[in-house]
Amino acid sequence: MLHQQGVEAGDVVVIYMPVIPEALIAMLACARIGATHCVVFGGFAANELATRLRDTSPKAILTASCGFEAKRVIPYKETLREAIHLAAWQGPTLVYQRKQVPAMLGVDDIDWEEAEREAPPCPPLAVPSTHPLYILHTSGTTGAPKGIVRDTGGYMTALLWSMRNIYGCGPGDVFWAASDVGWVVGHSYMTYGPLLKGCTTVLYEGKPVGTPDNASFWRVIERHRVNVLFCAPTALRAIRKADPAGLALRHPSGGQWLYQYNINSLRAVFLAGERCDSPTANWAEELLGRPVLDHWWQTEAGWSITAATPAEASAGVIPPGAAGRAMPGWDVQCVDDDGQPLQAGSSGNIVCGVPLPPGAMTTIWNAHDRYVSSYFTRFDRWYDTGDAGFIDPNGYVHVMGRTDDVINVAGHRLSTGAIEEVVAKLDKVAECAVVGMAHPIKGQVPIAFVVLRDDAQCLPADAESEAIKAVRDNLGAIATMQAAFVVDKLPKTRSGKILRRTLLQMVDGIPASIPATIEDASVVSEIERVVKARGVQGESIDADRGEHR
Ligand code: COA
Ligand code: AMP
Repeated sequence: MLHQQGVEAGDVVVIYMPVIPEALIAMLACARIGATHCVVFGGFAANELATRLRDTSPKAILTASCGFEAKRVIPYKETLREAIHLAAWQGPTLVYQRKQVPAMLGVDDIDWEEAEREAPPCPPLAVPSTHPLYILHTSGTTGAPKGIVRDTGGYMTALLWSMRNIYGCGPGDVFWAASDVGWVVGHSYMTYGPLLKGCTTVLYEGKPVGTPDNASFWRVIERHRVNVLFCAPTALRAIRKADPAGLALRHPSGGQWLYQYNINSLRAVFLAGERCDSPTANWAEELLGRPVLDHWWQTEAGWSITAATPAEASAGVIPPGAAGRAMPGWDVQCVDDDGQPLQAGSSGNIVCGVPLPPGAMTTIWNAHDRYVSSYFTRFDRWYDTGDAGFIDPNGYVHVMGRTDDVINVAGHRLSTGAIEEVVAKLDKVAECAVVGMAHPIKGQVPIAFVVLRDDAQCLPADAESEAIKAVRDNLGAIATMQAAFVVDKLPKTRSGKILRRTLLQMVDGIPASIPATIEDASVVSEIERVVKARGVQGESIDADRGEHR
């Protein structure tokens, strides 16, 4: 079907689809003919999709008529139409019509099922192991996302190894990564890893809560005899908040637990995507009676940089809050701001030795210089992960947060720089600063401090609503800001650098550290007053975290 649209090895194909089997089929079809796929997450607005179309100039686009969120239908085809217009892109779009809500097709649109019926069989094409399998954009510190490029052979090697040695899975096992095809987990562990190993992969187009109740995870595990679950901590936090006693899974009866769902098939739960707070991990472990293992990775890495095994969990050797130890090929170190290795237990920048192992990114699409400057320049001998934390004397790595302007909202990686760009473009705004406030379920949520131009003719409340709407419209619903505050001035150093850390401490209720270089210290107390008056206060999931931020 792709061949018939003129797609050849080396071409890029954009896939903009919900979590349905056809999304995986689309990725595998590209891999089969040597086309490089670029999957775009459905929660992004048209503008973000257009940015990715401009960056990759795809030969064809694959989409579906719609997706389903808890409370609404996501009009994939409509959003794509807008993005194509914004990017002034031309080419064929293959549309998978979902029966629930089909889309109106335009002149360049091709009905997927019809095209597939007419397409002749197509043999797989052998490609060099370094052939770019996919591009996956992720947030950097600026508004422009980074198109991480993944090779083919190294990636497959790493994934195949990880399925047995990290997740303990073999052929016939059922692996469920409760993620989205638009994220790296969706590539590595909804698609390539499990299928390569001969496992069944489970796709779930739903939420942990409210679709329709709090038992959806337990129901899916029972129905599909899931052996290993991989999810973001935020999913467990959402279930815990809605059902702290776990009554959707089991209830006490005659001194015993009576289970409403049979989860006997489940062997372990793996968590990643953001820091996991120990209370949530302990709660899940107690409820499920299975090891709940945190492991750390990034879009750039492609698979886990650090991980722990169920055997380590049974032996009780994993310290609370640790994300495991370095996996083969990853030389993980903690260094100070000058790149000097720190003693075990001291907090600093987490870096990795080069060369990076198989599976790790090979470049940034169209921007090799940015690849070098973003990752390999700050510390010349190391890959700068952008994460901070510490490594204990036994090699367990504790990842505490980012060192850059990236935030993690409900397991979704967002750039505060990208949000600031949207707000700063509003004509009444003089400048703004966005920070990720601590949130008990989502880990972090974006909030903005906005300074209006002197000639702005509007009420502060209207400007705040406009800023929130602009971010939602331009970046997407997942980036929706929790609050915006119009303030007179932003706290800055005398050299003009905005003190984002001070702002963050204020909203998180941590005593604000005010550097001696501050231009005007009175700004801090004024902002503190505004934030308090509005009753906005960050609520950390993690007692350990505050002291390391
Ligand atoms: N397509 C379109 N819109 C999406 C979307 C998608 N794939 N995913 C989320 N959105 C929308 C939601 O509908 C919501 O819109 P709304 O403001 O109109 O309600 C908005 O983006 C925010 O969504 P989300 O951050 O998911 O919040 P939520 O309250 O709907 O759900 C959680 C909260 C914690 C249950 C949910 O975020 C979750 O399950 N997170 C896990 C994420 C994950 O697995 N990440 C992968 C990392 S490995
Ligand atoms: P992404 O590229 O979207 O997978 O996001 C990667 C970022 O998420 C990392 O750089 C970390 O900041 C964070 N992250 C992922 N896994 C963990 C973890 N287990 N513990 C702490 N932070 C994590």
